[in-house]
Amino acid sequence: MTPHPHGPRHTAPPTPPAGHAGHAGHAGDAGHTAHAGHAAHAAHGGHTATGGHTGSTGTEPDWDALAVHLEREAELKVPFLEEAAAWLHDLLGPLDVTRVLDLGSGPGVTTVALAHAFPGAETVAVDSSAALLERARARSEREGLAARITTRAAELPAGLPDLGSAELIWTSNVVHHLGDQRAALETFAAALRPGGVLAVREGGLPTRFLPRDIGVGRPGLQARLDAAEEDRFSAMRAELPDHTRTVEDWPALLVAAGLAPTGSRTFLTDLSAPLDPVARAHVRARVERLRESLADDLSAEDLATLDTLLDDGSAEGLLRRPDVFFLTATTVHTAVRT
Ligand SMILES: C[S@@+](CC[C@H](N)C(=O)[O-])C[C@H]1O[C@@H](n2cnc3c(N)ncnc32)[C@H](O)[C@@H]1O
Repeated sequence: MTPHPHGPRHTAPPTPPAGHAGHAGHAGDAGHTAHAGHAAHAAHGGHTATGGHTGSTGTEPDWDALAVHLEREAELKVPFLEEAAAWLHDLLGPLDVTRVLDLGSGPGVTTVALAHAFPGAETVAVDSSAALLERARARSEREGLAARITTRAAELPAGLPDLGSAELIWTSNVVHHLGDQRAALETFAAALRPGGVLAVREGGLPTRFLPRDIGVGRPGLQARLDAAEEDRFSAMRAELPDHTRTVEDWPALLVAAGLAPTGSRTFLTDLSAPLDPVARAHVRARVERLRESLADDLSAEDLATLDTLLDDGSAEGLLRRPDVFFLTATTVHTAVRT
């Protein structure tokens, strides 16, 4: 891992294993794993026309239920976040960074990493979920950063003009929740100060956590889970307000937003087997959500395999088997306002 150029490293302890986990992002993140009974919309943290996130009915996501999963997923990737923040610091070079926006911050794990990397800046966590912003606020207090981290409730992208400008705008696994991704990036880019950088975390590779052949059911389970999730994800996107199909060529979209690309980098998160209890619980929660969300999309054989993996009394279950790992690659695309 690249040494952190500034100040103390992020030291918050991981969120302890806790109950049922929620979704997370797109490929390479907590994947399309998500949502339980609710539609795929919730799985990816889709937003609603009203910006509501109460999630009690229909396809509305329940961010309160997803909070633990989002936070733990981000905590497992803190080394990547710190490395990415250091890279962004290098990209911004001599520019005096006084304000950083973390758009769709969720529980604020990245917000804290950015605040550490830019000690001269006010860092603003922006999200439509009050519950997640409260987590971000509590985290910033635990980190001793309350004086430099603020939280702002806003619906993106409409709320952006009220947030003011910044030298660095970071957005992670959020753009794919917005109906018109190209228009959203244009709005984000417009909030950059001259010389400022927009960093968009999208894409990468789906997370893998099991060998191809696990000795139960048909080999290649994860490839089939990924394929089923891709279809669910496309269906979710099609239901978003203002949905516009977009070629997800992120550097090209940043150019279309009026910016000059400054590079894309992919960061590995590689937790090898045997996993510690926190990471193991995270994988189990993720599989539980996959079992629920993809129940109509998978074969009976694959569903039975998932049931075995979720059997905590079985030596073949995720909590006891020795071969569970956590491997993913996350891509960050950057561009500067010249
Ligand atoms: C998949 S989570 C990503 C959280 C965090 N950025 C991370 O990478 O860990 C998506 C986040 O975007 C927020 N979000 C989704 N749609 C939004 C919208 N239209 N306006 C504001 N926030 C939104 C959700 O509340 C959630 O916190």
